[in-house]
Amino acid sequence: MCGIISISSDKPFTSEELLTRLKRLEYRGYDSWGYWNGKKLTKEIGRITISDDKEPVTQAISHTRWATHGGVTQENAHPHRAGKVTIVHNGIIENWREIKKDLEAKGKTFLSETDSEVIVQYLNHEREQGKEIHNIIPAFMNTFKGTFAALIMVDGDENVYAAKRDSPLALGICDGRLILASDIYAFSDITKQAIFFDNDEWAIITPKTYMFYKDGKKLDKQPQTFEWETLEEDKKEYPHFMLKEMHEEPSVNRRLIDSLATDQKESFEKLVSLIKKARKTVFTAAGTAYHASLLGASFLHQCGVNAQAIIASEFENFITIDKDTLVIAVTQSGETMDVIEALKYSKANGATVASIVNVPYSSIERMSSLSLQILAGQEVAVASTKAFTNQASMMLALAQAFGYENGLDALPKKLSGILSLEPELKTLAEELHEQHDLYVLGRKLGYPVAREIALKIKEISYVHAEGMMGGELKHGTIALIEDGVPVISLIYDDDAKMRGSTQEVRARGARVVVIGTTKDADIVIPADSEAEFAILASTVGQLLAYHIALARNCPIDKPRNLAKSVTVL
Ligand code: AGP
Ligand code: GLU
Repeated sequence: MCGIISISSDKPFTSEELLTRLKRLEYRGYDSWGYWNGKKLTKEIGRITISDDKEPVTQAISHTRWATHGGVTQENAHPHRAGKVTIVHNGIIENWREIKKDLEAKGKTFLSETDSEVIVQYLNHEREQGKEIHNIIPAFMNTFKGTFAALIMVDGDENVYAAKRDSPLALGICDGRLILASDIYAFSDITKQAIFFDNDEWAIITPKTYMFYKDGKKLDKQPQTFEWETLEEDKKEYPHFMLKEMHEEPSVNRRLIDSLATDQKESFEKLVSLIKKARKTVFTAAGTAYHASLLGASFLHQCGVNAQAIIASEFENFITIDKDTLVIAVTQSGETMDVIEALKYSKANGATVASIVNVPYSSIERMSSLSLQILAGQEVAVASTKAFTNQASMMLALAQAFGYENGLDALPKKLSGILSLEPELKTLAEELHEQHDLYVLGRKLGYPVAREIALKIKEISYVHAEGMMGGELKHGTIALIEDGVPVISLIYDDDAKMRGSTQEVRARGARVVVIGTTKDADIVIPADSEAEFAILASTVGQLLAYHIALARNCPIDKPRNLAKSVTVL
């Protein structure tokens, strides 16, 4: 996680511009931030505040942090400085303890508790031995284990140095300046030209020139043109990005459906034939994208395809992969490190790797043999909403190619209908918002949806919510049901088993809310198929979670302890 940016410019710029760009990456991590512009070191806790520092400078590095090692303190905020060297770092240095011990034995004093500080102390120590920074960087990359996108400045040196392993890093080619950043949002408003770092590459950047190196050799890397909407900095008439993004669901859903019959038709057909060819298809993902993957596995399974969904962070422990396996990563950001690791493991075991992503040019798109885009547009809120809807719709489209009957084409219109249920969901949220615990029950396709609704409630409203299989209730969790405990039951087409699970909790005093397709449901969803119900009920859950969080006065778009892009393990 964390966002890093450097600017190297012909024309002087101020910290205001640097921080405005850094703020575009704040969704990647937002516990503390800082910058170094060759004259001033600033490190602060909390959200980025745009500085009134008007000092003109021509190069600077900056960082917005999501702490992994060391608490959220001013000392631990980046940049870190030692002697004449300053760095910002995204990632985790695995062997930091031994390097720190070694450097302490050589007399170095550490100022922070971070793993990152070993980078700057190491570089500084090597410089003190008379070595040049461009000779030290390859040695640093050989010595350090773990993940890093690191930006380096040395006092009195006009270059910015950059090194990358596993954490994302791109170079934006702009008019009169070069910008290094964790992702293209940092510069997508001023250029469509970028060079993406591959693993173990490092570079020397001036305002006009870039030189890339790997394994002691100079590389000839060319800029590529990327197409991506400019960053959605404006919430428009909505109080939160999350609400705005839910309201975009009908239009982005239509865009996806249309593209599968036009621009993405060929790639889509290729993915279908990869699934046909494979002995088994395994989706891998984290969080919300995992819930969409569970839906995908179930859709395909119902068509007789051998399909599974495995949580990326436990991938190696629960699945056997071979050359006849197709692994499909599902990810909004395309940068989730757990998913990257699962893909590396899959490749190492001979599997074919494909992906379904939202952010183009992301690491996961680039490491896949075939990648499809869900075209949800930029999602700013940490809670994933429109991306989930489009991921699930992509799954449905795939299943349709295997004969699964569904009403994909009618979905955008039905999503608009769901958004009009907002007043009812707001009233329900006002009733539920003071609860400490809440349960969401589903079976079959309702099960992933139950988990997704619970995740949404937890992450933005901080109410403990458990999403589970209706059938599992009686194996333990029902012990927690007593008078007034809220239980949301997802019931498609009067399903007898779900009715049964609902009766079991009602009999123990639960306050039951039925989200279903029959008239007696508390929230009625006009779905014509179970798949449609699953997708529409998820949007109902998003709206409910949003209003619970609103009633609790939570920071909806940037919940505590979270980040939009999870680039650490
Ligand atoms: C979604 O609401 C969550 N914030 C989170 O679970 C997210 O879906 C997960 O981290 C996966 O992210 P990705 O889709 O970018 O890989
Ligand atoms: N591991 C570093 C730290 O905890 C960097 C974290 C990040 O990527 O934001 O400071």
